Amino acid sequence: MMIKMTINGDVVEVDVKPNETLLDVLRNKLYITGPKEGCGNGECGACTVIYNGKPINSCLVLAPEADGAEILTVEGLTKNGKLHPIQEAFIEENAFQCGFCTPGFIMSTKALLDRKKNPTREDIVEALAGNLCRCTGYQTIIRAVEKAAEKLGVKE
Ligand code: FES
Ligand code: FES
Repeated sequence: MMIKMTINGDVVEVDVKPNETLLDVLRNKLYITGPKEGCGNGECGACTVIYNGKPINSCLVLAPEADGAEILTVEGLTKNGKLHPIQEAFIEENAFQCGFCTPGFIMSTKALLDRKKNPTREDIVEALAGNLCRCTGYQTIIRAVEKAAEKLGVKE
């Protein structure tokens, strides 16, 4: 079936199978490879995208369900070649090692900072609870989120 989605501001129409996941369609049909496939069953958060304003695991959404959805992936954060402040903060704090989990962490961070002006450390830990980093770089990731909040001018 044909579905229509708005991805990173662009309206996209794509032919999908009933059993395909949104993650498969993003990566294999639309070549949007920021969302990663880690576990494929909702446990690692590597495939996190913002879906109608909320962070979700794109491996758990069947593509036909995404008809009409508005989706933001990590690719949509960069504007005119300039990194988003969250991306800058992750770089400045060295908040990744292999980087496989990083797009998912960044999208969960974006969703958090979109809804919470001044997140506490507990808010950050809770918002990132669904994202796993097997390199265990959690302390630097939390620091990056705090720095991103400062950069965005939402954390006093
Ligand atoms: S690949 Fe989706 S949660 Fe792990
Ligand atoms: S940086 Fe390696 S899994 Fe997160």
